[in-house]
Order: sequence, then C-alpha cells, then structure tokens
Amino acid sequence: MVRRAVVTGVGHYLPERVVPNSEFEKTLDTTDEWIRVRSGIERRHFAAPGQTTSELATEAAKAALAMAGIDGADVDAIILATSTADMTFPSAATMVQEAIGNTKGYAFDVQAVCAGFVYALSNANALIVSGQAKTVLVIGAETFSRIMDWTDRSTCVLFGDGAGAVVLTAEDGKGTAQDRGILSTDLNSDGRYRDLLYVDGGVATQNTGVLRMQGKEVFRHAVEKLAQTADTALEKAGLTSDDVDWVVPHQANIRIIQSTAKKLGIGMDRVVVTVQDHGNTSAASIPLALSVGVANGQIKKNDVVVTEAIGGGLAWGAVILRW
Ligand code: ACO
Repeated sequence: MVRRAVVTGVGHYLPERVVPNSEFEKTLDTTDEWIRVRSGIERRHFAAPGQTTSELATEAAKAALAMAGIDGADVDAIILATSTADMTFPSAATMVQEAIGNTKGYAFDVQAVCAGFVYALSNANALIVSGQAKTVLVIGAETFSRIMDWTDRSTCVLFGDGAGAVVLTAEDGKGTAQDRGILSTDLNSDGRYRDLLYVDGGVATQNTGVLRMQGKEVFRHAVEKLAQTADTALEKAGLTSDDVDWVVPHQANIRIIQSTAKKLGIGMDRVVVTVQDHGNTSAASIPLALSVGVANGQIKKNDVVVTEAIGGGLAWGAVILRW
C-alpha cells in the first residue's frame, strides 16, 4: 500500500473583463493577426481595478472545494502558486485561508513563476505521501496585468489574469502506474538564465517593476526543457507517451505547445489548449486548463494526464497523474 494524492475537485475563476487582441491595436504598433499567428492568443481576461490575486484564488478554490464536497475549514494545507501576490507579505495563501474559513491548516505561497503550479503540486504530493497532510488545496492565481509595461508590444499582449485550483486527497494505492493520483514529479531550475525573464522591481528597488523577457531565447529553452522534463517524469512513473491521454501544458504560446507535443510524439488531439482564450496566466494556466478540460468532457476519471511548465528562473518541471 502506498499513499497517493488524488485530485478530488477542480475549479477556476476568470475576471469578467475580456480583452480581445484588437484592443491593443489602438495603443500599440501591433495587429490582431500578429498576436494570433505568433502566439495563438485571441483574448485574455484582466482583473478589475482593486481585484487582487487572492480574490481570484479564493473563487477558484471555492469551486474546487465544492466539486470535492469538502468544507474549506477541513483543509490541512493551502499552497498558492503565484508571482503576483497581493502584498510582499503576508502570503496570498493566508488571505485565501481566511476567506474560506480555515483556521486549523497552514498556508503558504510558492514562487516559481510559470512553473509555480507544478512546483506546488509536487510539494503538495510530498506533504500527502509523507503523511503530513490528508487534504491539500493547490491553487495557481495571477494578476500579471499589474506587472506589464504597456508600451512594450513584445510582452504586454501575451499575458492575462485568472486562477485555477485543485483539491488533493490522500487515498491508498497499490504503488503501480494503475493507481489514481500523482504518479511522479520532476522539478528543475537553473539560475544562470535569470536574465531571460524577470520583473525589474521588487523589495531591492522598492517598486513593483514590470516584466522583461527575451522571448526568442525563452522559446528555445522552453521546447527543449519541457519535452525533457515530461519524458523524465513519464519514465519515473513507468509510462511512455503512448500511455498519455492528455497533455495539459503551461499555456504560453501555441507554437511552444505544438513543438513540445511533437517532440514528445503526442498528437495535438491529446493536448488541452486554452491559450487562445486566456493568454499566458503564468502559474494559473495549468489549473485553468485542467478545469476547462474537465468541464468540456476532455479529461475523464482514470485518464493519464501530463502537466509541464517553464518560467522565470528559469524554473521548469512536470507532474504525471492519473485523474
Ligand atoms: N506586434 C507586432 N510586432 C511585434 C510584436 C507585436 N505585439 N511583438 C514583437 N514584434 C516584432 C518584433 O519587434 C520583431 O520586429 P523586428 O524583426 O523588426 O525586430 C518581430 O516582431 C519579431 O519578433 P520576435 O521576438 O523575433 O518574434 P517571435 O516569433 O520570437 O515571437 C514571442 C515573439 C511571441 C514573444 C515568442 O518569442 C515567444 O512566445 N516566446 C516565449 C515567451 C514565453 O513562452 N514566455 C513563457 C514564459 S512566461 C513566464 O515565466 C512568466
């Protein structure tokens, strides 16, 4: 018998305001066509003035808890992946904790930029497998619209706001790849690449700063490293790409998603794609895509799901789970 972390609920929340590509044509030297062809993005959601990351996270968390049939008060741990926490401290996770009426558990943020959700999932899995928690709420939530340089057409058209969440519950498994739940994880980072993607502010500069990215270089690393981490995680789980029902990748750019799927030998008919509707929502993109994939009937119980992501750091990783 081994303990497994099984997804028992999933949910998401998107801010009301939808911003089509055409809106950027009014203020920037860009076109709807350029954005669609180069990134696959057609629209994204932006948070309302004053609407915070923890508020988006709370809505997604409530939806996931409702599906799991679990009261927020009964959660053992809350892990929130975000690079856009409401404040420098306390963590946005503690704000969610209060909002869902939880006082017995512990809450903390994970900061691994776009790889944040796979980092958070992996840490939640470790808490469950080691017996430190039975029920963990794992959230990815971002308000990247707050860290954009609106004069930089090469970045500000790519990102969006949103939140997704899953509830992980401890269940007994046999220790084989037939078990439901998280089957393997693979995490990596390499700080030598920190200049490729970063925010030029923070505590050291006493301002929030805006996102800076060397897009072409990030693209090159992304395809290579995402395929590598997904392959490694599959191998750790004792599975091959033939066993995969769904790839749920970080949604940054349709061309990265397509190239990575090709490298993995997995057809696009087995990839959940939401980038056209959400843009790049960083740590929120995978749980958002999981939630959409379940809601539209793509991801079903017992399906083998591969999640993979890369972001600033560079930090990247993959999690294999049986839904
Ligand atoms: N509209 C029109 N033209 C534009 C725009 C725009 N919005 N943005 C850039 N261009 C121009 C550039 O200025 C350049 O013009 P030039 O040739 O005259 O210099 C030209 O388009 C080509 O630019 P490239 O950067 O070479 O375009 P590319 O095909 O590489 O696409 C993109 C750019 C979409 C940013 C791509 O490189 C990419 O997706 N990179 C990866 C980004 C990513 O995945 N980030 C994820 C990690 S996110 C995280 O961790 C937070």
